[in-house]
Amino acid sequence: MSKMMCADIIKALQPIVARYEAEQVGVLIDAALECDVLTSRFPTLRMEVSEERKSLEKVEQIWDFLFAQGITRRGLLICIGGGVITDIGGFAAATYKRGIDYINIPTTLLAMIDASSGGKTGINYHGLKNSVGCFAPPVETLISPQWLKTLPAAQWLSGFGEMLKTGLISQPALWHQLLQYDLEVMDSEALMPLIEQCVACKESIVAADPKETGPRKVLNFGHTFGHALEELSLDAMPHGYAVVYGLIAELYLSVTNLGCPKEPLQQLTQLMLHYYGRPQCKCSEREQLVRLMQQDKKNERTAEINCTLIREVGMPVINQVITPAEALEALEYLFSL
Ligand SMILES: NC(=O)c1ccc[n+]([C@@H]2O[C@H](COP(=O)([O-])OP(=O)(O)OC[C@H]3O[C@@H](n4cnc5c(N)ncnc54)[C@H](O)[C@@H]3O)[C@@H](O)[C@H]2O)c1
Repeated sequence: MSKMMCADIIKALQPIVARYEAEQVGVLIDAALECDVLTSRFPTLRMEVSEERKSLEKVEQIWDFLFAQGITRRGLLICIGGGVITDIGGFAAATYKRGIDYINIPTTLLAMIDASSGGKTGINYHGLKNSVGCFAPPVETLISPQWLKTLPAAQWLSGFGEMLKTGLISQPALWHQLLQYDLEVMDSEALMPLIEQCVACKESIVAADPKETGPRKVLNFGHTFGHALEELSLDAMPHGYAVVYGLIAELYLSVTNLGCPKEPLQQLTQLMLHYYGRPQCKCSEREQLVRLMQQDKKNERTAEINCTLIREVGMPVINQVITPAEALEALEYLFSL
């Protein structure tokens, strides 16, 4: 798979699409978005997105669309949208006629940084998030700042939460650049070099462990607590916000358990208070959060809480088992801020 940062998506797409017969190309696009240059040229399926719609029924709709267009195994699906479209479109393409090529054009910051790379595709099934899916990387991912101009602030901050995680697990230089980025202005052009570094970091981690057997778990930093908070909020909390809160709790444990310096925890706390706000949670819900963490699908043994922590910025350590009492202490810290 290759990734391309491009000012002009259409120009970048031309040589790739030229490898396919024109009648073998289909477009799947988030119904909230416009991309006339492509949708007027190729048969297009517009799909309204939500977590509820990331379903088998919608996959069938994509398969039906591909069949109706007569797309063969030499076909191409171009997926334009956020993480819901890239996950579901990738899954439909990977399973249609045992797999056709697809291209991702991510349009949210979260999809640019995370969902459109790494090769994970899938749907929600029986109410369980991403419980059916497969590893199937797109042939190309085209990332352009043009989409960020219409993105609501909460979506920006959500994607930026994943970027902060990448900075903490990769290198001090990236972490410092992210801290210096002006979130008041949200300049999409200025963000591009940082997006590029975050994507390159994820790509190299995934290349070393494509099916998440070990080293790829560094990407889970902030996610043990983050997923529990997201679940407790019944998905009302944007993913990247939950990751930022999870990072605070897991940085706290990195300090107490691994002797990580306090500076990144203090820096992220300031950023959280300024931009993300405090997480809302009643005292009684803390025990429930610990139970949710004990049921996390990332755990290797029943009821154990498994986290990725850091020794310092750029030095992640996977498979750190923490006790329920330690988890409660980290939550205590998070909710005391
Ligand atoms: N495969 C992976 O590795 C991976 C990683 C992270 C997240 N995900 C998945 O990604 C999904 C979340 O992604 P998301 O936050 O992009 O959600 P999304 O696709 O639901 O998009 C969020 C909202 O932004 C709107 N939107 C999209 N692009 C826009 C634009 N340019 N301007 C204005 N509005 C725009 C959408 O219509 C939607 O309302 C989840 O389903 C999650 O499971 C997958």
